[in-house]
Amino acid sequence: MKTYLNLGCGDTFHDSWSNFDFVSSHAAVKPCNLLNGIPVTDNSADVVYHSHVLEHFSAENGKSFIQECFRVLKPGGIIRIAVPDLENIVKEYLKNLEGARNGDSKAADRYEWIKLELIDQMVRHSGGGQCGQYFFRENMPAEEYVYERWGETARVIRNAYKKAHNASFSSKVKWKLKQIFRSGEDEATRVGKFRLSGEVHLWMYDSFSLGNLLRECGFGEIQVLDPFKSNINNWNEFALEVREGKIMKPDSLVMEAKKPL
Ligand SMILES: C[S@@+](CC[C@H](N)C(=O)[O-])C[C@H]1O[C@@H](n2cnc3c(N)ncnc32)[C@H](O)[C@@H]1O
Repeated sequence: MKTYLNLGCGDTFHDSWSNFDFVSSHAAVKPCNLLNGIPVTDNSADVVYHSHVLEHFSAENGKSFIQECFRVLKPGGIIRIAVPDLENIVKEYLKNLEGARNGDSKAADRYEWIKLELIDQMVRHSGGGQCGQYFFRENMPAEEYVYERWGETARVIRNAYKKAHNASFSSKVKWKLKQIFRSGEDEATRVGKFRLSGEVHLWMYDSFSLGNLLRECGFGEIQVLDPFKSNINNWNEFALEVREGKIMKPDSLVMEAKKPL
């Protein structure tokens, strides 16, 4: 029996794997704080997978987490990591900035979104941040671009916001502020708790820095892959990154590596 771990799985998991997240949303997901270590024994896992989790840890905690992944993997075991691709975001930012400066209004719309992708996800002080507010707009100026970048995930968020639209946005904001006010917490405590809640990006990676991190932690055979390709047996059957032929998070940098034998 193979042991496959999906760490920080959120709602994206397969029943045959061991799935972990802060909060268990399903019987197949075990609750744990990954910053306290991965709750499995040394050399026990065939696969360790995490998607859009590593960037939620500080650079220092991220390194400890990858060291933990190395500890729990069997020799020859595979680590697969998906993170937002810093290099791609920066290239998109520069390209659309130039277009916007040259008077291309579509590029200006894309520029507005890509800045949110880069900055808002790191600096926000409350759930959803400016990205969330963008999805709440009656018309999203760069709608097609957002779907291109965030794929099915963006469509799911947009549809959820559309459904919730009967309550006006401003009344939702007022409701949220009331909850915060009622909680009796001062602003610093609320912001501190939020920033440690696992939603915010605390660091970002490109293939160069993630490759270096994997190497420093002892991994070999480091590769950049795509959502369809993997060294994990029957990868596509688990439908973790591609569902019904659609890529869930096209903005991902996907890398795999092996723990040496
Ligand atoms: C952006 S979501 C990604 C979810 C899923 N892996 C995916 O790709 O759709 C990040 C997930 O990491 C989880 N997470 C963040 N920090 C965590 C921690 N310290 N311990 C456990 N889970 C954590 C969050 O609860 C959240 O479900």
